[in-house]
Amino acid sequence: MMALSVNMKNIISDAIEYARGIFARDFSGHDFYHTLRVYRIAVEIAERENADRDITALAALLHDVDDAKLSPETHEGKGNAVAFLRSHGVSRDIISAVCAIIDEVSFAGSDSVVPASIEGKCVQDADRIDALGAIGIGRAFAYGGSRGRPMRDPDIPPLLEMSREEYRKHQSTTINHFHEKLFRLREMMNTESGRAIAARRESFMREYTEEFMLEWNSEDI
Ligand code: ADP
Ligand code: NI
Repeated sequence: MMALSVNMKNIISDAIEYARGIFARDFSGHDFYHTLRVYRIAVEIAERENADRDITALAALLHDVDDAKLSPETHEGKGNAVAFLRSHGVSRDIISAVCAIIDEVSFAGSDSVVPASIEGKCVQDADRIDALGAIGIGRAFAYGGSRGRPMRDPDIPPLLEMSREEYRKHQSTTINHFHEKLFRLREMMNTESGRAIAARRESFMREYTEEFMLEWNSEDI
């Protein structure tokens, strides 16, 4: 896609260490290993989809460093990502490509966007894949706990069509979140490779949800 500097390998390993530092104390489902998994999944999808590996890697490693929830003061200008890339001598073209991807990646109800570049599509798919499957279940309950949300509340029904604002404000439960967001991710996948991985993880998660309800209602007793 674009000319890459010779020390890209070093920049990527520095970005891994940078992310490790930033997310060291996160207990909301955005710990360092989320970023590391997104990086690995994104690069794997990028290889299958013939996307640029280095742009994909940098965007994946930096995709949450300016997250609106974790770093509201740098969110708008992507302060952390830009400072990291500048301090490593990354060209303006690559910085703007990476920032465009970071902007496009995060999900916000029905307002979410399809990334313009194939690299953005790979990173968005990887980020969504990490919200599915056994890992996704663990992250959802960790996030719900960190926000004081109940696992499930029969009096709070899931809301299926939400705008960005409603999505942010909605006081829901973690099991609702499976229906409001997670089970909709598969059909929103950008790449065929991503969709195949998502399908497998979603079916495990649906099975889990059935078992959860069975036990909730003591139907297995
Ligand atoms: P990312 O920024 O990595 O795209 P989010 O910030 O949307 O992801 O979510 C991080 C993790 O927390 C995901 O695994 C997601 O499913 C979970 N999560 C987000 N919102 C909720 C919620 N309202 N209830 C339960 N889990 C949630
Ligand atoms: Ni993420």
